[in-house]
Amino acid sequence: DQDIEPGTTARFATAKRIIRQAGVMAKDYFDRYDELEIETKSGRQDVVSVADRDVEDFIRREIIASFPLDGLIGEERGADATETDYTWTIDPIDGTAVFLHGLKSWCVAIAILKEGVPVAGLVYDPCADDLFSAATGHGAERNGRPIAVDSQTPFDGGFLVVGASKPEQSHHIGQLIEGILAAGGIFMRNGSAALTLAHVAAGHYLGYYEPRLSSWDCLAGLLIVREAGGLADDFLSGRDIMASGPAFAAAPQVHDQFKALTLRGT
Ligand code: IPD
Ligand code: CA
Ligand code: CA
Ligand code: CA
Repeated sequence: DQDIEPGTTARFATAKRIIRQAGVMAKDYFDRYDELEIETKSGRQDVVSVADRDVEDFIRREIIASFPLDGLIGEERGADATETDYTWTIDPIDGTAVFLHGLKSWCVAIAILKEGVPVAGLVYDPCADDLFSAATGHGAERNGRPIAVDSQTPFDGGFLVVGASKPEQSHHIGQLIEGILAAGGIFMRNGSAALTLAHVAAGHYLGYYEPRLSSWDCLAGLLIVREAGGLADDFLSGRDIMASGPAFAAAPQVHDQFKALTLRGT
C-alpha cells in the first residue's frame, strides 16, 4: 500500500462529506424535476437548470471553507486559480439531461489533482445512495466496501457503453456500434459518463468510450476504474485540463478488442 500524502488524505475525507451533502441537495431538486425550467446552452441537447448551478455553488463554498488556496474547475462556474498545489474538478450533476427528464442515472462527480495529476476520485449516485471513491494506490470502494472490475466475462457476454452527444460524431459512433453488435456484444448508454465509469469499476459494464468529454466528466471515474483493476487511458496526456477529448476505460480481457473498435470511422 502506498502512503497517501496527508494533504490528499484530508481532502479525500472532506470530499466524501461534501459530495454526499451535494447529492442530497441535488436529489431534492430531482424530486421535483418537472417544475424546473430547462435552459439551453450551446444547443437543444445541451441543457442546464438551477439545480446544477446551486449544487456547484454549494460544493465550491464547502471546498473553499476547508481549503481556501485550492484551485477549482467546475462545469457551470468555470475555472479559477489552477496554478495551485491542489486542484478540484467538479461536475455538480453529470447526466443533467436525464435528470431533467426524470431518469435516475445521474450523479455528482469530484476529482482531486495534486500538481496536475489526479489522486482521488468520487462519484455519488444519490438515487441509489452509492458513493464510489478511490485514491491512487488504495483501491476503489462503493460505500466503503472494495469493488473490482469484471475480469471474467468475455466481450460477447457483457455490456459496452458508448457515449456521444454531437451530430458530427454520427459516422464514428455508427461504425463503433456496428462493430460491437457484429462481434456479439451489447452496447448501452445511460446519460452519465461519470456514473457509467463507476459502474465499469464495480463490474456492471465491461467498458466505456466517449469521443469527447471534459475533465470534470471523467477524471473521477477513470481513476476509480484504474483502482478497481481496469485499464483506462490517461485523459490528460498531452492535453490541458480545460480541453475536451476522448475517454476510454475497459476491463482487461476486453481492452484490445474494444479499443480497436473505437478507432473505426475516426
Ligand atoms: C454529459 C454526460 C453525458 C455525456 C456528455 C456529457 P453533463 O455531462 O456525461 O453522458 O454523453 O458528453 O457532457 O452535461 O450531463 O454534465
Ligand atoms: Ca452539461
Ligand atoms: Ca458532465
Ligand atoms: Ca454537469
